[in-house]
Amino acid sequence: MIQIAPSLLAADFLHLEKDVQTVNRHADIFHLDIMDGSFVPNISFGFPVVEAVASLAEKPMDVHLMIVHPEKYIPRFARLGAAMISFHYEAALEESAAVLDLIHENGAKAGIVINPDCPVEKIFPYLGQADFVLLMSVFAGFGGQKFIPETLDRIRAVREELKRIGRPHVDIEVDGGVSPANAGELARAGATILVAGSAVFKAQDPAEVIRQMKQG
Ligand code: DX5
Ligand code: ZN
Repeated sequence: MIQIAPSLLAADFLHLEKDVQTVNRHADIFHLDIMDGSFVPNISFGFPVVEAVASLAEKPMDVHLMIVHPEKYIPRFARLGAAMISFHYEAALEESAAVLDLIHENGAKAGIVINPDCPVEKIFPYLGQADFVLLMSVFAGFGGQKFIPETLDRIRAVREELKRIGRPHVDIEVDGGVSPANAGELARAGATILVAGSAVFKAQDPAEVIRQMKQG
């Protein structure tokens, strides 16, 4: 079953409650993008916004850390109620196993993320430990970019490897340029969680867009 995770990066911050309720009513997961201006050349939002969302959220919160030293902030996001926390392999490299452990110790599902230019084989050593994999289908840092079609082969490669190691249940999340136009092929390639920012929150009818993406 495909789960839809609207990215609040594209929300209307003057009317955040409205967009939070859209996710509560129509979607499955809150996707929260944390950017530090160092790992990526952009700064998004931090603890006060996540805390505000948590106070109304009826669906799990998925915190996508685009920051250096993710280990420093994982306990705090977990305490705010994040059910899923992911960090970039490029920010942790050989510490990735320890970071996955830290997320688990803090009671959240652990995800490892890679940008489109990172070979998928780099994260194969961690697939035995991760609860989900997040494949970026644009370069992390900004909403509203164009979907990179080579992501489809990357999803298939990770799905194959997960089957090979006997972990076919691990979620593959895809993030960047996702819309009703590519949701179907992403699901058929093996993705199980679709993140969408602009496609949902810039739409006239976000509920209808979510419904279309769920159908694939
Ligand atoms: C980009 C973020 C995404 C972003 C997606 O670095 O990780 O979650 O919000 O935005 P859209 O769906 O507009 O590409
Ligand atoms: Zn994201």
